[in-house]
Amino acid sequence: MNNCIIFGGGGFIGSHLTEELLKRNYNVTVFDKINFSKDNLRSFKDKIKIIEGDFNNEYDLLNSLDGIDYVFHLVSSTLPASSNDNPVYDVESNLVSTLRLLQDVVKRKIKKVIFVSSGGTVYGIPKSTPIKEEHPRHPICSYGITKKTIEDYLYMFNFLYGLDYTIFRLANPYGERQNPLYAQGVIPVFLKKIILNEEIVIWGDGSVRRDYIYIKDAILPLVNSLEYKSDNKVFNLGSGTGYSVNELLDKIKRITGIDAKVRYVEGRKLDVPVSILDISLLKKEMNYLPKIDIETGIEITYKYLKEVLT
Ligand SMILES: NC(=O)c1ccc[n+]([C@@H]2O[C@H](COP(=O)([O-])OP(=O)(O)OC[C@H]3O[C@@H](n4cnc5c(N)ncnc54)[C@H](O)[C@@H]3O)[C@@H](O)[C@H]2O)c1
Repeated sequence: MNNCIIFGGGGFIGSHLTEELLKRNYNVTVFDKINFSKDNLRSFKDKIKIIEGDFNNEYDLLNSLDGIDYVFHLVSSTLPASSNDNPVYDVESNLVSTLRLLQDVVKRKIKKVIFVSSGGTVYGIPKSTPIKEEHPRHPICSYGITKKTIEDYLYMFNFLYGLDYTIFRLANPYGERQNPLYAQGVIPVFLKKIILNEEIVIWGDGSVRRDYIYIKDAILPLVNSLEYKSDNKVFNLGSGTGYSVNELLDKIKRITGIDAKVRYVEGRKLDVPVSILDISLLKKEMNYLPKIDIETGIEITYKYLKEVLT
């Protein structure tokens, strides 16, 4: 009765989520790409079921749902920056496949869908911070528009067919297993460059402010939401505190004791100047309380990356 499937479960967030679900005695199926690296799942691989398939393949998708009670949707084929290069691909690979998933979820009367949306992009340029859930959504990248549209379809599927769901508008998670080679995740990217004595490139003047949340704090509400029943369906998920890229870099330099080589290049139009989330609704409704402060989180991530990279 407690069978969960995580689409994108082999990735950074999915692997931490899997671990926490196992701790709480849920049965976990991880659905990820054919031949995906199992490194993130290594220490608990024999406790889960793994399905290798393509989220964009109708049959792979539908065949994976037998006996499932809860669906976590963590697949994304694009990143905020790359999504604007090909919005058609973004919509086809993320939105259309999600609609197929939701239709089947309704047919099978699956109990709930948990969707990881994006706190940093769905709102667009905020009118004020910290940003509350009611703030208007005007994304300025295709990735954000796709996330926003999936949110709207979840609302529609709930209204028309009674599908239960929770949406988490996630800020900037960081920590172990986040791939430092990706364009997303400034903390592991900076740490990797420092460890390998490479130059750090900063878009703009480093004043862009973001809300950073340690991964093990971030995944707790995702698990707690399985048992949560309410009309509140949308939650910001972050730390509620913001740091500029320059402040973050100073902290990283202090913690590692290494003075990085830094080069500033022209800013990108798609980066909103500030994104700090108001997390009071999640605190009130699910007793959410992030425990790991930014300094401790950077130290943990630094220690992890030093072991992986050297
Ligand atoms: N990391 C962040 O900063 C962040 C912030 C807000 C929201 N999110 C969202 O959280 C979710 C998970 O992010 P993450 O950081 O763990 O990313 P990730 O890239 O580490 O994990 C995503 C997983 O999805 C899998 N995947 C992608 N396309 C697939 C396909 N067609 N078929 C099967 N599997 C496929 C990948 O192989 C990967 O393992 C995404 O939806 C992302 O948009 C991430």
